[in-house]
Amino acid sequence: MRTETPVSVQLSDYKPYPFEIEQVNLRFDLDPDATKVRSELKVRRTGGAGDALVLDGEGLTLRSISIDGQALDASCYEQTDKALIIASVPDAFTLVTEVEIAPSQNTALSGLYMSGGRFCTQCESTGFRRITFYPDRPDVMSAFHVWMAADKATYPILLSNGTPGETGELDDGRHYAVWDDPHKKPSYLFALCAGDYDVYRDSFTTMNGDEIALAIHVDKGDAERAAWAMDSLKRSMTWDEQTYGRAYDLGVFNIVAVRDFNFGAMENKGLNVFNSAYVLADEATATDADFEAIESIVAHEYFHNWTGNRITCRDWFQLCLKEGLTVFRDQNFSADMRSRPVQRIKDVIRLRARQFAEDAGPLAHSVRPDHYGSIDNLYTATVYEKGAELIGMLRRMIGEELYRKGMDLYFERHDGQAVTIEDFYKCFEDVTGEDFTQFRLWYAQAGTPEVTVEENWKPETHEIEITLKQKTPATPGQPVKKPVPIPLEMALLDEEGNLAEWTTILEDEDVTLTMEMPDTVTEPPLVSVNRDFTAPIRLNRSLTREQRLAMVRMETDPFNQWDAVQTLVKAEILALSEGSQAEPDDALVTALAGAVEQAVDDPAFAALLTRLPEVGEMFLERQPADAVALNAARKKLQSALAAKLSGFSAETLGKPTPAPFDPGAEQAGIRALRTAMIVLLGVSPDAGAADTLRGLYDNATNMTERLAALRAYTVQKGGKANEALADFEATWKDNPLVMDKWFALQATTGDAETIKTLAAHPAFDLRNPNRVRSVVAAFTMQNLAAFHAPDGSGYQAVEEIILKADKANPALGARLLTAFEQWRILEPQAKAAAEATLKRLQSAGLSSNAADIVARALG
Ligand code: PHE
Ligand code: ZN
Repeated sequence: MRTETPVSVQLSDYKPYPFEIEQVNLRFDLDPDATKVRSELKVRRTGGAGDALVLDGEGLTLRSISIDGQALDASCYEQTDKALIIASVPDAFTLVTEVEIAPSQNTALSGLYMSGGRFCTQCESTGFRRITFYPDRPDVMSAFHVWMAADKATYPILLSNGTPGETGELDDGRHYAVWDDPHKKPSYLFALCAGDYDVYRDSFTTMNGDEIALAIHVDKGDAERAAWAMDSLKRSMTWDEQTYGRAYDLGVFNIVAVRDFNFGAMENKGLNVFNSAYVLADEATATDADFEAIESIVAHEYFHNWTGNRITCRDWFQLCLKEGLTVFRDQNFSADMRSRPVQRIKDVIRLRARQFAEDAGPLAHSVRPDHYGSIDNLYTATVYEKGAELIGMLRRMIGEELYRKGMDLYFERHDGQAVTIEDFYKCFEDVTGEDFTQFRLWYAQAGTPEVTVEENWKPETHEIEITLKQKTPATPGQPVKKPVPIPLEMALLDEEGNLAEWTTILEDEDVTLTMEMPDTVTEPPLVSVNRDFTAPIRLNRSLTREQRLAMVRMETDPFNQWDAVQTLVKAEILALSEGSQAEPDDALVTALAGAVEQAVDDPAFAALLTRLPEVGEMFLERQPADAVALNAARKKLQSALAAKLSGFSAETLGKPTPAPFDPGAEQAGIRALRTAMIVLLGVSPDAGAADTLRGLYDNATNMTERLAALRAYTVQKGGKANEALADFEATWKDNPLVMDKWFALQATTGDAETIKTLAAHPAFDLRNPNRVRSVVAAFTMQNLAAFHAPDGSGYQAVEEIILKADKANPALGARLLTAFEQWRILEPQAKAAAEATLKRLQSAGLSSNAADIVARALG
């Protein structure tokens, strides 16, 4: 076995495609084992007279090829394993190719494949070349016309992009359908789905008065479980009209849910394809976290229609142009649907856990990189989440009104085009008259800037001097960094509230601000920095514990209040894990419990206050990182909190859960607090906790509480909750999404042995990404003490599975391997074991996607 090392693609090598594809006519004769694809391209030369026509194509069996009706002689073209090259072509011509592909053999889930006996496609970023020969790059935009035929009994519903046209019967029980997409699009937005579905239908009237037919296609029997996704879709459509003035632009909008899918969902024009995990939900089978994820992903894909589809990326280096912007849009949608501060805190938890870790490790890259090894590996927290933060900073710096003006100009100026980050910022330069050159460094420099804050109170003059310094650490390939503009919302606080509030943009390496306080201020005020987490930075402050406790009490910004608690909690976990302190500090636990009880009127916020940072969030705090010690310390603090809150918990759980069930924010908040109490019961020293949890599990009326109770019960029983786990399995064995939860619950609470048992379970399926992730990613990302076990047992448990998954599905294999990105900062034993594992994997033979991750991790 040989591991292929991918060649690097460079942004600076960009050249426009030398031909325009004016029209694409596709004919699909669908058959799982042998699908025929006929492609007719109307081509016109736009580049040099001598340019050859080079079309991407992978794994295609070419059956015929002709230009303007003339079959091409084999000497006129060359077919490699990646391309079809025709050296000499006229300036304008029609190219027809016929190829054959085998969807049933497609385990990579890229291109045309089968899922649950149905056809579906995934073309971003480079799947279309696995369907037919084509310039498979986002800057080639064309109008697509699709004719498709399949066996009518097995595949009664035939879908593609755009609007439906003629349908009819054929011989041998086959039927056909025509779809036309009037909007020019790049090939990565092409989609085709065919099969037998149950359909949940609705309609929407746009602000222009157009009537849109909405339909969500799901597994037989699942239609009612699409109701929340439909509701989310309609709210997204309204929100984009009201917030950005953008309406939907086709007569139909289709969603198809598929079980086997590499990512969350895909924004294909007029035909979004979703991982079924992000479509199907009802109170019995889905948790509030699922409902929330569905709402935001449905919105995300819908918002792509303008930010991604109508205006797309010139090349894949510009991925954040559509992803960062669209994440920013979906985060704001969710904030409008729910509680803005709670949404912000959740977004920051995610950013810190995933993006900060990525930015600090060997896989660090800039939001708009200038090279990549494998494009599939560029769908990262940095491109998505940090990309979203950059738009947030832009909006804060110029204000909502100019932001909206700039967006309007962007939509107007670039509609129908494939553009760059520079084009995007030009629109904002034009509406503000400002220069964003320095700001765009955020797109070019990897690494999380660290801002150090120093304060100096001068009692004689009632002045406070605040010095801010920034420094971005070196990252692979970028040893030296320049200062970036960092917008910081600031405030000065005393016991009464805000003394002052302002925004500082830290543009240079450092700045000193002097604020004069009224004579009545005799004590140094508290300095509140980066309120609402205005900038994606790490703050470095040497405050005393007393100052931090005062901060918890005095903060007027909900994000910073939560963060003040987090900072104290992190310090406590570190102290406990390093043995400098044997037991949790009672004053801290009391303060924490007090903050929770005080927030009871905002139960979602109270629930967040009880959430202790995960082990992984602690890795960046002090190195080398000892996952086992951190986990033990975290648990100690958690059980002390459980003990302190036992009365509050009994009271909270003693009330009935809200009924009838509603997935909206209000009820979800109440359940979040109840669930938080259930989590604490899992580590409670109280002798009756296990029985209480068993009762909560048995009597739960919704999956949120049932799953939380089962998990906490498993934790409380030290993994010996077999009977309850068996009960859950017996109830849900026929529901794959619920079974994913059953697998994940055990993978996150068990050890290496658990992983082996789960992988040997008959329902473990290497071909289903959700199932593989529910075991492997759940274990490697959410059970760090077991994954990073010093004896290497955690690594061994997943090694074989990852290798096998990678053989079938490189995108999946590579994604799973990112769990190793932090190996270098681990304590020596785990570090050595992780390195040995990575080297073994490397020599075992990996896909080029996986090899790219491993090579950079070892780098
Ligand atoms: N473009 C998709 C999204 O952000 C993500 C995706 C990428 C899905 C690649 C599939 C393949 O919504
Ligand atoms: Zn997206």
